[in-house]
Amino acid sequence: MSEIAKLIVQGKEYEFPVVVGTEDEVAIDVKKLRSSTGGIITIDPGFKNTGSCESKITFLDGEKGILRHRGYAIEELTKKASFLEVAYLIIFGELPTREQYAKWEKDIQHHALLNEEMKDIIDGFPTGAHPMGMVASLTNALTAFNPATVDITSSEEIYTAITKLMGKFPVLAAWSHCKNQGAPFNYADNSLDYVANIMQMMFRIPTEEYKLNPIAVKALDELLILHEDHEQNCSTSTVRIVGSSEAGLFASVSSGVSALWGRLHGGANQAVLEMLENIQKDGGDVEKYIAKAKDKNDPFRLMGFGHRVYKNFDPRARIIKKAADELFADLGTSDPVLAIAKHLEEVALKDEYFAERKLYPNVDFYSGIIYRALGFPVHMFTVMFAIGRLPGWIAQWREMRLNGEPIGRPRQLYTGYALRDFVPFDKR
Ligand code: SDX
Repeated sequence: MSEIAKLIVQGKEYEFPVVVGTEDEVAIDVKKLRSSTGGIITIDPGFKNTGSCESKITFLDGEKGILRHRGYAIEELTKKASFLEVAYLIIFGELPTREQYAKWEKDIQHHALLNEEMKDIIDGFPTGAHPMGMVASLTNALTAFNPATVDITSSEEIYTAITKLMGKFPVLAAWSHCKNQGAPFNYADNSLDYVANIMQMMFRIPTEEYKLNPIAVKALDELLILHEDHEQNCSTSTVRIVGSSEAGLFASVSSGVSALWGRLHGGANQAVLEMLENIQKDGGDVEKYIAKAKDKNDPFRLMGFGHRVYKNFDPRARIIKKAADELFADLGTSDPVLAIAKHLEEVALKDEYFAERKLYPNVDFYSGIIYRALGFPVHMFTVMFAIGRLPGWIAQWREMRLNGEPIGRPRQLYTGYALRDFVPFDKR
């Protein structure tokens, strides 16, 4: 017998079922709140206390710094699996057998060509256009070349749409980078694995042989795994709500790209690097920027710090920080902003303001330093986040559609004018 939550409002008592998740998270099911109370709703800007759905994909424990995909710990997945293997797990629910993986990789490679007319669309962008704007538009443009609506009851049609998007998204991301740089476009090379292909499409110069650096490919594969899904974050919630209107997968993911671009979300990795470079230019005065971040009159925020869910360390930040050290050691290079980032973290974590508000480095704090070491320009960092998050967006859209969830349409509390008569011009 499930527990009951009691609510007393305006002298009346109401009862609502309490639901408990796999990891003993507790929720009050208010599906019948409005109908059973004659119109009473809850209000929760930013949904800080509101669950939008039940999901079997990812579990986060913000207090303990836990991140699991379909029950597997992120620490194990980054060590023992590849990006494409984790993508299969996140989307379809189980780790693939060798045969399933071989088919998954081959089906994605089969779709790694864009219609050549996509180049006409890309030509419409000015050189130097931000790649995130191009990627959002080009993802939507895929609907022009795939106009048929996917029959959600056909697992075959969903699988084809998924492998098409997994195959074409990195290509349109790479072409957006090449357009931004005024460089020639590279095609996928299906003799390479998924992540190695991304590197060659981004950086190969047609007039020279492109030498893949296995250390760089491994670092990127691990970094992309750390971005694959993160339950109901801003961009994923956007993909779910857009998909809930029965908008297609490509259109829904395009909206997720736009949501991710914001500097409070995926755009933070670009903002972190720009912040670290400013601190470096300013003589590395970390204490000055910590003071600015604490000053309520100063709009400056410590980018890459804080998280809606993690009120302890972000497990991804820990893994990325270690991966940055290993990458630089392997490459025999260094980046002065890494030392500034570490110093900033050390000073912030000792400061009352950050401790009180449980503000720790998040996934974006160190990731940009690795992207830069791999050769990505700063305006490509969020595109790389999008490539990483694509499997999560796909998995969450698929789960929402297969669950037949209703169209997302929140209510509101109206606090504007009561009824009033129209005022003619000469009386205003
Ligand atoms: C991602 O949701 C996800 O899972 C996202 C993500 C994913 O994988 O999808 O993990 C990826 O988006 C990571 C977050 C990247 N964004 C940033 O690094 C931008 C900087 N951080 C923030 O702006 C902020 O911490 C958020 C947006 C991440 C979280 O915002 P919340 O949960 O709405 O918290 P809040 O803004 O209400 O802050 C609570 C307090 C406030 O102070 P008080 O009003 O209580 O005095 O903490 C302060 C804030 O001013 N605060 C910060 C701060 N973050 C919060 N103060 C200084 N610097 C910061 N970075």
